[in-house]
Amino acid sequence: QTSETLDLKSLIRSIPDYPKTGIIFRDITSLIAHGAGFKQSVRQLVDPYRGQGIDKIVGIEARGFIFGGAMAEQLGVGFVPIRKQGKLPGEVIGQDYALEYGTDRIELHADAIKAGEKILLVDDLIATGGTAAAAVDLLRRAGADIVGSAFVIDLPELGGTDALRAKGVDVHCLIAFE
Ligand code: PRP
Ligand code: HPA
Repeated sequence: QTSETLDLKSLIRSIPDYPKTGIIFRDITSLIAHGAGFKQSVRQLVDPYRGQGIDKIVGIEARGFIFGGAMAEQLGVGFVPIRKQGKLPGEVIGQDYALEYGTDRIELHADAIKAGEKILLVDDLIATGGTAAAAVDLLRRAGADIVGSAFVIDLPELGGTDALRAKGVDVHCLIAFE
């Protein structure tokens, strides 16, 4: 295959009834195991943000690390992780967000972002947008200038990209599943 010709959607495996009955899980492990597919997806995630002075890529645990690390290498910039509660060893700032039942918390090293740094936020998938919106709130508290966000998969029926755009964040997704 030459570059930019793969149908990335066909490389995402769909697994019915995971993690519970009625959910179709969109599984990126089949995409990242495909060398040309992974390369094309990383390039398409970063391309809209080339030449915009991005200082750092911020990736969300866990699958955002896979794409984000490769994107940071592409742009020649640093990578910063946002992790689930209790995983980062240094001083952190945290942000709670709502789940279907209960709440969860993500954290960022307090010194990871300098005020005014231009950030590109990355994750594998946006569903309700709750995780990404919490990441935006956390990054803004740290003084980040969020240039945009990139996701491999959007589930548009769940409204996450609309919610993120309503917060004034540019959103770029490669694939949508209804
Ligand atoms: C998934 C996905 C996003 C988030 C999207 O991660 O990778 O981070 O959910 O859902 P939302 O838009 O409704 O917030 P998950 O919480 O399963 O964590 P993991 O990557 O560590 O498995
Ligand atoms: N796949 C992976 N992560 C997810 C999904 C999915 O279909 N829905 C919510 N998070």
